[in-house]
Amino acid sequence: MTMSPGIAALTHPRSTEDLRGHMRAAEPFVVHNRQASLAELLSLPLLRSLDALLAAWPDPVEVFDPEVADEANSVIVGPDEARTQFASGMTLLFSEVQLHAPQLVPWLEAIRADLGVSALTEKRCLVYATPAGTGTGAHFDQNVNFVLQVHGTKRWWLAPNSNVTRPMTRHRLGQPIDPELESYSRLPMPSELPVDRTEIVLEPGSVLFVPRGTWHATHATTDALSLNFTFSAPTWLDVFGAALRSRLALSDDWREAAMPLEVATFEALLRDLSDDVVNWHAADILAVTEGEP
Ligand SMILES: [Fe+2]
Repeated sequence: MTMSPGIAALTHPRSTEDLRGHMRAAEPFVVHNRQASLAELLSLPLLRSLDALLAAWPDPVEVFDPEVADEANSVIVGPDEARTQFASGMTLLFSEVQLHAPQLVPWLEAIRADLGVSALTEKRCLVYATPAGTGTGAHFDQNVNFVLQVHGTKRWWLAPNSNVTRPMTRHRLGQPIDPELESYSRLPMPSELPVDRTEIVLEPGSVLFVPRGTWHATHATTDALSLNFTFSAPTWLDVFGAALRSRLALSDDWREAAMPLEVATFEALLRDLSDDVVNWHAADILAVTEGEP
């Protein structure tokens, strides 16, 4: 049974409401054997095989050794070099796949709408090609992810994050912590993936929802290819920060260089702002940011 793009097709036969409950609780959610409802995705020519992807891919490919480096430390190579690197145990990351497979665009938009998140949400498709016997070290991401296993078998371990909720940056175990992330984290970070982990094995047709901030690590037991739908929804902080900036940019006083750095001047600006903010209304701000009344 082919289903139209959206969360229902990803989670069937479990319900969208079931998924929402897991999202609210920051719990992973998995379904298997989605070959029928996701036939459109699984039959995309670009995803037929890694060779097909490399042959058709017009952009550079990110390459990283997941055992030692993070994808933040990837190098960029052409498709031929990527094939060689994969053969020597490197993971390949193909970004913004929807630009080369336009069939993915309605999926990204439908999932975003079903999630009920802002139209300003950053959304993209990624493809990971992971050689057998390798995997990604423990980390958490600031975005939410739906992973569709396309080829091969990949083992995932996921664990609740008791160090930080709702992170705004990703973090890999053992790496330096971003200063802002550190400011709202409970330290120290663990030295390995927490023991209350869940193990999930993804086979072709499996769909896994990875909540924002959940610790996870992976290991491919065969060469594996997965398609990720990734969403970074603006936080209330982002929405308010953008509104504040666009409002204050209209003010000659706020655009003045903070020079000399006088406390009294800044204090006067803050008093003016606090008088103004009481007249702000959420609906007016969202009408601008979301482009609808
Ligand atoms: Fe991740």
